Amino acid sequence: MSRTAFSVSDAEWCYHDGELMKVGDVRLSPATHALNYGTGVFEGIRAYWNEGKGTLQVLKLREHYERFEKSARLLHIDLGASIDELCEATLEILRRNAPREDTYIRPLAYQSATSIGVRLDMTPSLSIFTAPMGDYVSLTGLRCCVSSWRRVADNAIPTRAKITASYANTALAVDDAHRSGYDDAIFLTHDGFVSEASAANLFLLRKGQLITPPPTADILEGITRDAVMELAREEFGLETEQRQVGRTELYVADEVFLTGTGFQIAPVVEIDDRPVGDGRIGDLASNLQRMYFQAARGEWDKYRDWTVPLEVAEQAVR
Ligand SMILES: Cc1ncc(COP(=O)(O)O)c(C=O)c1O
Repeated sequence: MSRTAFSVSDAEWCYHDGELMKVGDVRLSPATHALNYGTGVFEGIRAYWNEGKGTLQVLKLREHYERFEKSARLLHIDLGASIDELCEATLEILRRNAPREDTYIRPLAYQSATSIGVRLDMTPSLSIFTAPMGDYVSLTGLRCCVSSWRRVADNAIPTRAKITASYANTALAVDDAHRSGYDDAIFLTHDGFVSEASAANLFLLRKGQLITPPPTADILEGITRDAVMELAREEFGLETEQRQVGRTELYVADEVFLTGTGFQIAPVVEIDDRPVGDGRIGDLASNLQRMYFQAARGEWDKYRDWTVPLEVAEQAVR
């Protein structure tokens, strides 16, 4: 029901304002602007451990930093580093930490001024840190509810940006879902159309048609969402229809699954106490999940441009 929390060790290397240092050596004031007002943007990137090759396969590295740059732009944050530099800094942290397991990478750009008063015209900070991460949610069938909390609207806090403040909306919905015994929450927009899950995009299969809500449904334009649309097109000849989805379509869908860097591809077997399809993981979700992992671990040559391989030393730099 509740999900796994992954902790960040103080002993790990991170990038902080242009320097490589230990996580435990970063000092932040309680007056940090972003901590008080949610004025930060972030990314979540996964690197999959490939035991056979002895490499970490960093998934969609450049795509994440491209979105990061756009999120920052929306919040008037100048990253002060190019996408290439951010990709290289990320690889350097991974080289030093040398994790030989699936790893999550968190770039975070935030207003770090220690002043009171809501504004955006300040000098931001930029940190990148890593944590070990296995499955964030169960991949064997989630039970979801439609949340009574509406998804924050793009005109309130831009939803195509990963802005820290909007995750209070996520936390409210997830907490509610967990307290009621569900694994995750599905948000509706203010107009009552399906938006996305707590931190994942949503797909449904109905009458052979693969459907996902459009960017105008206040979704984050997910990188995994794009990857899944590519796999569906390439491997099954299925074009994804991006259109408004009514709440009750969820109840009559043949399959529903969630996609995200953290969620990976997570089939949904029950929504609001109604079975999805026959209540078991559907064939499409199960095949897409298998293919996604094969590509993400760098084991499928056709999709080798999805990942950056990084050889990992036996020992971390200490
Ligand atoms: C609100 C939200 N929607 C969707 C996603 C999925 O996006 P992605 O596939 O780029 O990880 C995430 C995760 O980052 C998210 O936080």
